[in-house]
Amino acid sequence: MSLFTVDAGKCKKDGICAAVCPMGIIDWSKGENPKPSAEAEELCITCGHCVAVCPHGALSHRAMAVEACQPLDKELVLTGPQAGQFLTSRRSIRAYQDEPVPRETIESLIRIASYAPSGHNMQPCHWVVRDDRAELKRLAGLVVDWLRGLVKAKHQLAEMLHLDRVVARWESGMDTILRGAPVLVQVHAPKDDRTAPQGCTIAMAYLELAAAAHGLGACWAGFFNMAPLLHPPMAKELGLPEGHQVFGSMMLGKPKYKYQRIPLRKTPDIVWK
Ligand SMILES: Cc1cc2nc3c(=O)[nH]c(=O)nc-3n(C[C@H](O)[C@H](O)[C@H](O)COP(=O)(O)O)c2cc1C
Repeated sequence: MSLFTVDAGKCKKDGICAAVCPMGIIDWSKGENPKPSAEAEELCITCGHCVAVCPHGALSHRAMAVEACQPLDKELVLTGPQAGQFLTSRRSIRAYQDEPVPRETIESLIRIASYAPSGHNMQPCHWVVRDDRAELKRLAGLVVDWLRGLVKAKHQLAEMLHLDRVVARWESGMDTILRGAPVLVQVHAPKDDRTAPQGCTIAMAYLELAAAAHGLGACWAGFFNMAPLLHPPMAKELGLPEGHQVFGSMMLGKPKYKYQRIPLRKTPDIVWK
């Protein structure tokens, strides 16, 4: 089967598919139907742009039939001001309702996050979701044990991140690690995948935004994320596949409070050249 097929009855020979193909592997000349170039099989990154862009629904990729790709709903396009308020009003949530989040909701957020850009469309993310509260508390306690060790050893991170205070607050009953969130989502990928750090981080950012859009709260779990990187016993606890590294950890849950306004941020430092 050819890499892609063109419905000659629908194709208007406009060459749009060839113009957007990131790898330049669609041969097209005016008045002709597009066809895969000689290098297409080798170079295609299965990004689906050729299928997604065609205004006539004329092109199907072997990996994605045009009928399988959901058409855009024009009613759902955000205006600039709507997008601006949505993006600037997302907050890191650190107070959660004592309620579980349905697993289907989390899976649909992860499906959205899988649309984040990734180098060569490699989609490097592997996801682990934990929603067992007792286990989350146990793991957070292990992170605190590690932080306590850093404080004791006067590690440079201890001073930089005020770890003595983080530990003291945990000991007085405040969950400074996971903020009492009912869910922790982690993304991992092979350590040596060159673009995994960016791909996973962007996917996590998508997840956080998607959570906000679905009425959920999220917050990056920095200490939890750092622990397996710097403390091998924690990496063992998480049981990741051999050669994999955690690239992001996110708390999730229903927010206890609603934010009413948008806080100030530094003025962007921009240099035009
Ligand atoms: C990589 C990263 C790690 C973070 N780690 C934590 C964390 O461990 N605990 C926490 O409460 N917030 C954490 N945050 C949230 C930041 O504190 C928060 O994004 C920042 O204060 C700005 O607030 P906003 O997200 O509500 O705009 C982290 C954020 C990032 C990007």
